Amino acid sequence: PRFAVFASGSGSNFQAIYDAVRTGRLIGEPVLVVTNKQDAYVVKRAEAVGVETLVLKPTSYSTKDAYEQEILKKLQELQVEWLVLAGYMRLVGNILLDAFPNRIVNIHPSLLPAFPGKDAIGQALKHGVKVTGVTVHLVDAGMDTGPILSQYAVEVVAEDREKTEERIHAVEHELYVKTLQQLWS
Ligand code: GRF
Repeated sequence: PRFAVFASGSGSNFQAIYDAVRTGRLIGEPVLVVTNKQDAYVVKRAEAVGVETLVLKPTSYSTKDAYEQEILKKLQELQVEWLVLAGYMRLVGNILLDAFPNRIVNIHPSLLPAFPGKDAIGQALKHGVKVTGVTVHLVDAGMDTGPILSQYAVEVVAEDREKTEERIHAVEHELYVKTLQQLWS
């Protein structure tokens, strides 16, 4: 399917998904990267591989609906079928949820329903859990709450945020590609 990746940060998940498509491990067409952050590194990654980018500042719109309408226009123009959220730091609203029912996927760096929201890895370390992980799920109106598609456990490296983060990101890149491939085949 034709899909758009929504991201607000470094875009390592976008890169992993793009690389999987390029090497034939994932069948799909990444046609657009949507971001709310002009200086996000994901923009550079998209430009480097020739994927179109849509950079929109939510604060330039009077309502969330207006912001999402603008995104939707572009998605329709490009005949996008699926939305893949990868570090998109905004709640998806009704305009996009209604336009893509059960066609929006998100990845979250914890074993949901534990540690939803921001800094899930920091939350896990603070709670002293020994095992955390990664979840891929369908998106609904809540914060990291939709139906779970896949999960993978990751052992916490005691008091080492960097190492724990590294493990989680490596798992994310594998799990997202695998889950999308299953979802789309
Ligand atoms: C990932 O940990 C993802 O699970 C979370 O935000 C991070 C995005 O990383 N929602 P990147 O921008 O894909 O490198």
